[in-house]
Amino acid sequence: MSGFNTKAVHAGGGADPQTGAHATPIYQTSTFTYFDAEQGRALFAGEKEGYIYTRISNPTTRALEVKLAALEGAEDAVAFSSGMAAISALMVTVLKSGDEMAFLDPIYGGTDGFFQEILTKFGVTIHRCHDLDALQNVLSDRVKMVFFEPVTNPTLKVWDVEKVVNLARAVGALVVVDNTFPTPYLFRPLEHGADVVVHSATKYLSGHGDLIAGVVAGKADLMHMVRFEGLRHLGGALGPFEAFLLMRGIKTLPIRMDAHARNAQKVAEYLQGHPAVRAVHYAGLRSHPSHEQARRYLKSAGGVLAIELDGGFAACARFLDSLKLFTQAVSLGDVESLACHPASTTHSPMPEEAKKAVGVTDGLVRLSIGIEDADDLIADLEQALRQVKGEDQRELSFLGSSI
Ligand SMILES: Cc1ncc(COP(=O)(O)O)c(C=O)c1O
Repeated sequence: MSGFNTKAVHAGGGADPQTGAHATPIYQTSTFTYFDAEQGRALFAGEKEGYIYTRISNPTTRALEVKLAALEGAEDAVAFSSGMAAISALMVTVLKSGDEMAFLDPIYGGTDGFFQEILTKFGVTIHRCHDLDALQNVLSDRVKMVFFEPVTNPTLKVWDVEKVVNLARAVGALVVVDNTFPTPYLFRPLEHGADVVVHSATKYLSGHGDLIAGVVAGKADLMHMVRFEGLRHLGGALGPFEAFLLMRGIKTLPIRMDAHARNAQKVAEYLQGHPAVRAVHYAGLRSHPSHEQARRYLKSAGGVLAIELDGGFAACARFLDSLKLFTQAVSLGDVESLACHPASTTHSPMPEEAKKAVGVTDGLVRLSIGIEDADDLIADLEQALRQVKGEDQRELSFLGSSI
């Protein structure tokens, strides 16, 4: 099974060994019966393979993990009840008091908040790095982990992944990549030297906005630790029904991602020339500073873009409140188009200086482009941008008349 599309459809699937069911059954059970006490002892001692309790593993979630590992080219994967459960379980498994970790800014605000508010409480020193020079400056053998998003949320910058990997490798740090935005269809970090991949599977992997899930993928021995420490002791297990839905969603990941990216490219090109839009952040645009990096690493620039409007929060609010087809909500990667104001929502945990330094400004709006007709999306954006402009003109004329 070598092609990505084939793996997306078949990996982890196949006839159920008990019943021959073609679709992976939902094993909706909390616990699994031992046929005698000796079996229970052997399972707990790790002398026998088998299912014990759904917080640790379950046949439906296991089928999903096999699929996810195949797609990322990883030895194994562990599924979680959310992206944050996956990220926090990995950190708790790998890091200990006295360690240092570095991350490339920006990242999802919830991850940022977890690093600042939780990891530091447990004695881990965090280095926030705005660029690769800053990263190089903080790296030492005390830094045990380097974490980054290859396509940044929400600014859509594409990092030079191999440069980051080489810097981290030089000090023996574990390289962890949050691959939520590109998904393994557009980019596979392990092929470029990263050690671990994490995901909010809530987004494109699911694709339908109807579940919350996360995943960690990497070497089998590390995934064993993640399962028996981070998952078992913290307890962020994915339910079997969500695992089933995710399996189903992933089967169409390649065709959905192509449709998202095609639409995003059209929308970005339209927005690029718009007089009400100060900047468009989308690496599919030739003019974008990350364009060459995107061509080097990504199959396409994906489905999320960001725009900057003049007039700060007030202008963004007018724009967002005027959208009719786009839904005003956080999250991304759904078949429906979504729009949000990161500085006041998803990225509100970021310190203000960091927001300023990496461009999470009050004028930034993030657009997750769905798979509707691009012309309809453009028409919706056009009418909402007219509202921003109209209001601005009214404000200006009011100002003018009062002077
Ligand atoms: C890049 C990224 N990583 C992680 C997360 C957290 O995932 P979840 O919401 O599934 O916990 C998000 C959520 O928006 C995200 O955008």
